[in-house]
Amino acid sequence: MIKIIFVCLGNICRSPLAEAIFQHKVNQKGLQDKISSDSAGTANYHVGDDPDTRSIAVAVKHDVPIQHKGQQFHHTHGEEFDYIMAMDQSNHRNIIHELGYKHEGLFLMRDFDPDGKGEEVPDPYYGGADGFENVYQMLDRSCDELLEYIVKEHNL
Ligand code: 4NP
Repeated sequence: MIKIIFVCLGNICRSPLAEAIFQHKVNQKGLQDKISSDSAGTANYHVGDDPDTRSIAVAVKHDVPIQHKGQQFHHTHGEEFDYIMAMDQSNHRNIIHELGYKHEGLFLMRDFDPDGKGEEVPDPYYGGADGFENVYQMLDRSCDELLEYIVKEHNL
């Protein structure tokens, strides 16, 4: 099983949405026995919490099932996961700090976005619903390219 974890700050807005979108694409391709996804936050503010209602709303709008309970990113995730996808540069730095080394599967999510390579997925927490739709579109594009990359990389 190839294991991927999506990481943001709070694990209620961006990363559970990324996990939901990615897993939905995996399922649609019938790859659910080969690839699994999870998400976490670098902070502990929302451990045990459901995704933000605005992330749930945008997922529902696009017919993507979403279900997650907040968890904090922990250094043991470094051995457990093949890919660690940071939403922004701050998450990326915090992940390296928590791990104590640079994991070879650590990427910025938008390294895979054809429309904004290497840019950040902005934190939509303090904004409105349009921010969540914007994040959805970035994640959707990035998940397509990420899944394509993993399928090729592992001959799935
Ligand atoms: P996320 O958004 O990192 O995309 O889950 C945030 C959610 C909550 C907080 C910050 C960002 N917060 O400060 O509680």
